[in-house]
Amino acid sequence: MPLLTRTLSLPTLTPSARRATGGSRGQDGTVQARRRRRKPRLITGLDIGTTKVCAIIGSVDEDGRITVLGMGAAPSRGVRRGAVININETVDAVMSAYGQAHELAHIHPREVYVGIAGDHISGVNLEGTTEIANPNAGVDRRDCMRARQRALKMILPNDVEILHTFTREYAVNERGGITDPIGQFGQRLQVKMHVVTGSVSAGNNIFRCVRKAGLRTSGVVLQSVASSLSVLTEREKELGVVLVDIGGGTSDIAIFQGGVLQSISEIAMGGDIITQDVAKMLRCSPHDAENLKKKFGHAVPLEVDIDERIELRAPTPGAKRVTHSRRDLAEIIEARVEEILLGVQKQIQRSGCADRIYAGVVLTGGTALLEGIGGVAERLLGYPCHIGRPQNMLGMSGVVSTPIYSTAVGLIRWAVQEGESAQREGWLVRKIKKFLDIYG
Ligand SMILES: Nc1ncnc2c1ncn2[C@@H]1O[C@H](COP(=O)(O)OP(=O)(O)OP(=O)(O)O)[C@@H](O)[C@H]1O
Ligand SMILES: [Mg+2]
Repeated sequence: MPLLTRTLSLPTLTPSARRATGGSRGQDGTVQARRRRRKPRLITGLDIGTTKVCAIIGSVDEDGRITVLGMGAAPSRGVRRGAVININETVDAVMSAYGQAHELAHIHPREVYVGIAGDHISGVNLEGTTEIANPNAGVDRRDCMRARQRALKMILPNDVEILHTFTREYAVNERGGITDPIGQFGQRLQVKMHVVTGSVSAGNNIFRCVRKAGLRTSGVVLQSVASSLSVLTEREKELGVVLVDIGGGTSDIAIFQGGVLQSISEIAMGGDIITQDVAKMLRCSPHDAENLKKKFGHAVPLEVDIDERIELRAPTPGAKRVTHSRRDLAEIIEARVEEILLGVQKQIQRSGCADRIYAGVVLTGGTALLEGIGGVAERLLGYPCHIGRPQNMLGMSGVVSTPIYSTAVGLIRWAVQEGESAQREGWLVRKIKKFLDIYG
C-alpha cells in the first residue's frame, strides 16, 4: 500500500561505504532486504466514550501486527449517550488522553481514527438489482458496482449521511447466498447490503473536538464495528455472533453472520444507570455507588453470601459508618442488568438472525467486567456467552487488554484492515470536512 512503501530509515551510506558493504545488495543481501522493509504505520485509536476518552497509539508492521506504544485515558464529561454535548470539556479530555499516550510513545501518529455512536446512528438493509451487462462473460466488477449503487440510491433525510456500507450477499438469477459473484453466469444480479447512517452534525461535533485538540481525523468508525474487530474472531463472525458493548451510557449491539455485519442497534442504557440505581437505593453519592459497584457488585444475588456486609465510608469525618448487605447490592444490579439484556434479546429477535447465532454472545465494554453478567446473559438470551477483550497485540498489550479498551484497539484494527480504502474517506467524513473547511 502506498502509505507503507517508504523504507526503514537506515544510516545513509556514502558510495564508498556502500562498496565496502558489498554494494546495494550487501554481502548477504540483508541491506536490500532491510531497505525493502516498509516503515511501520503509526495510528491512534481515539474512543470518545460517555465515561472516558481514551487514546491508544499503535505501530503496525507490514504483516499487520499491532504494537501498542502508548495509551492514555481521561474522564469524559462532555459526552452523553455517545453524543458530544460539550465541546470544550471533550477537547480537554481528548488532549489529556492523547497527551498521556504521546508521553509514553514519543510519537505523533499521522493517522487518527475516531469512534462514533449515539441514537442518531441507524442500520438499514437495502437491496439493489441490475441486468448483467454481458451474460455470456458472466458477472464482472462493474455489474457488482452498479448493483451496489442501485441499492444505495436511497433518499437520505437532511443531516444524514452514509457512514459504512457492508455487502451481505449477492444473488444471481435469484440464487442467493453468494459472497463473490464474479464470473457467475446469469441475467440478473442482486445485492443485499447493510448500510449504517449517522447524523452529519453529530459527526461535525466529533471533528471539531479532534481538530481543536490539535489532531487530524483520518477516519470515523462506528464504535460497535470497531469493538467487534478487537474481540471477535473471523470464525465467530462466520458462524453467527452477537457482540454487545455495554459501556457507561449505552449498550451497542452488532450481529454478524456469514462473516458480515447483519444488524446494528443501541440500547440507551449502560453501566452508569446501574450506578445511579445503587446510589438511589443505598442513599450514597454517585462516587461511592460507582466504587461499590466495581468492587463488590455482582449480577447474580444468589451467588453472594447472604451474610456478607459491605461498608461505606462515613459521609462526614466522625460520622458513623454505614453497612449494607452485599446481596442487596447484587439485587439492585441484577434488576438493571436484566433490563438491559432483555433489550438485547428484543434486538436479536428483531434482526431476524436469532436462530443462526451459533457462536453465541460476546460481551465487552466496561460493564462486561461486572461479576456474574455472563451467566445472566446466558440464562436470559439462551446462547453461550463470554467476555471479549482485545487480544493479539505486542508492546503494552497487557495494559489495554480489558473490555474497556475494545473500541480504541478496534479503531486501530479498522485502519489496518481497511488499509488504503479506510483512507478513502466515507461520504460523511468528506462532507463534514468540507463543512469545517468553510466554517470550522
Ligand atoms: N469492574 C467493573 N465492574 C462493573 N462495572 C464496571 C467495572 N469497570 C468499569 N465498569 C463500568 O463500565 C462503564 C464504562 O465502560 P466503558 O469505558 O466501556 O464506557 P464508555 O466507552 O465510556 O461509554 P459508552 O460506550 O457508553 O459511550 C461504567 O459504567 C463503569 O462503572
Ligand atoms: Mg464505549
